[in-house]
Amino acid sequence: MAASSTTSGADFVVVANRLPVDLDTQPDGERRWKRSPGGLVTALEPVLRSNDGAWVGWTGVADVDVDTFVEDGLTLHPVRLSAAEVTEYYEGFSNGTLWPLYHDVVATPEYHRHWWNSYVQVNQRFAEATAAIAAQGATVWVQDYQLQLVPKMLRELRPDLTIGFFLHIPFPPVELFMQLPWRTEIVQGLLGADLIGFHLPGGAQNFLYLSRRLAGQPASRASVGVRSRPGTVEVGDRTVRVGAFPISIDSGQLDELSRRPEVQARAAEIRAELGNPSRIILGVDRLDYTKGIDNRLHALHELLAEGRIDADETVMVQLATPSRENVGLYIKMREGIEQQVGRINGDWSKVGRPAVHYLHQPVPREELVALFVAADVMLVTPVRDGMNLVAKEYPACRGDLGGALVLSEFAGAAAELKDAYMVNPHDLDGVKDALVAALTQDPTEGRRRMRGLRRQVLTHDVDRWARSFLDSLGGVEQ
Ligand code: ADP
Ligand code: F6P
Repeated sequence: MAASSTTSGADFVVVANRLPVDLDTQPDGERRWKRSPGGLVTALEPVLRSNDGAWVGWTGVADVDVDTFVEDGLTLHPVRLSAAEVTEYYEGFSNGTLWPLYHDVVATPEYHRHWWNSYVQVNQRFAEATAAIAAQGATVWVQDYQLQLVPKMLRELRPDLTIGFFLHIPFPPVELFMQLPWRTEIVQGLLGADLIGFHLPGGAQNFLYLSRRLAGQPASRASVGVRSRPGTVEVGDRTVRVGAFPISIDSGQLDELSRRPEVQARAAEIRAELGNPSRIILGVDRLDYTKGIDNRLHALHELLAEGRIDADETVMVQLATPSRENVGLYIKMREGIEQQVGRINGDWSKVGRPAVHYLHQPVPREELVALFVAADVMLVTPVRDGMNLVAKEYPACRGDLGGALVLSEFAGAAAELKDAYMVNPHDLDGVKDALVAALTQDPTEGRRRMRGLRRQVLTHDVDRWARSFLDSLGGVEQ
């Protein structure tokens, strides 16, 4: 992919709500950049880093002006958000309206006109910032639900650009999307792109239907394939393509990292630090109510109470990256989860030997990989998730063919990772049975399953995802 930034503008631009790094202010006032949370950055960073791309996004802090800067070959163009915009556009419309609506209303979305107005205003600012730095005829790749109006706004400013859009979260069923007071504006905003990508064919098909119904545009009716057979919507003299492109991870790099002697040694050390249990259960999530952390803790608690899991032999480690900490739903959810952890530990821990180790903090990449290597069972139980990259990272780190993956059928990854122990996270008995089956699996069966998971993840990596999208977009030299 050719993606150089020149004085006359960048040939390849990614536009996302967040830059790949967040501005962090230390207690002593010193500022430094740290990696941003979430799957979008995990997936896109390796693609962009190797291609000298430009990235337009927010610094993660309100009311801060930062000039364009270059980091590891990536040109970063910060977009300023005021404190009011963080409240109304980011915490409000993006994460209080769209996030719960697109995740099957597992929490109740709120509809406020001032949140919407702020969303429109900030999307316009992102479009203008991008229009100002993109070279003539450049390819621009807009990311995720926070920026669904940018494709149309950008096309109005710069009709010369090739514009792609990718949605990193689920696209909801039509009946739920229809709740949104600004549903037509969102569909029209997306239709400004040349190619609109979803994780799964179902999302693409829902969008094609809505393009007909809400925007009144002729749209194809044939079923959409995975990375092939995109649907089409006719918008004036343009044909917009709508396809399914399941995102992935840099699986080769994780495989390599996990085999390093120091990572293997750290994995053994972690097991020793946990008291050499015979089984380690691991959960790794952003602390989000869609991730089903409460369901898995509930399952563990009942299994301990029933004596089907022995706290002397089995420990659980739950990593929970802090996320959206000013949003009411997240504050409540955190309290609930921390109470559950407290209750389990109160009932089942011994001095120096907690039943659940709960870390409300991000950990460095190498440490995370060592935890994947150490874990006997990886629990991924979202009630709804666009993809869930953790489910792909775990098998990528298991070149020894050890371990087992318990995976929710409501994660996008379930469509590809057929060799997981599949669960309905709402079915508590089903989660308990799957966890016990994974903990006690026959080693030969375990290796068979892990081989299948790894085959899928290693042959469908993030590079293949990006290539299939950009090939279909057709605007970038490969
Ligand atoms: P989402 O995009 O909703 O946050 P994903 O599972 O797709 O969910 O991506 C989360 C990414 O963040 C993964 O790459 C995962 O390894 C990483 N991650 C999650 N929790 C932690 C943590 N505590 N420390 C370090 N990385 C984490
Ligand atoms: O894909 C979901 C997503 O919102 C991404 O846009 C983002 O990378 C991640 O989750 C983290 O969320 P936030 O940017 O709100 O911290």
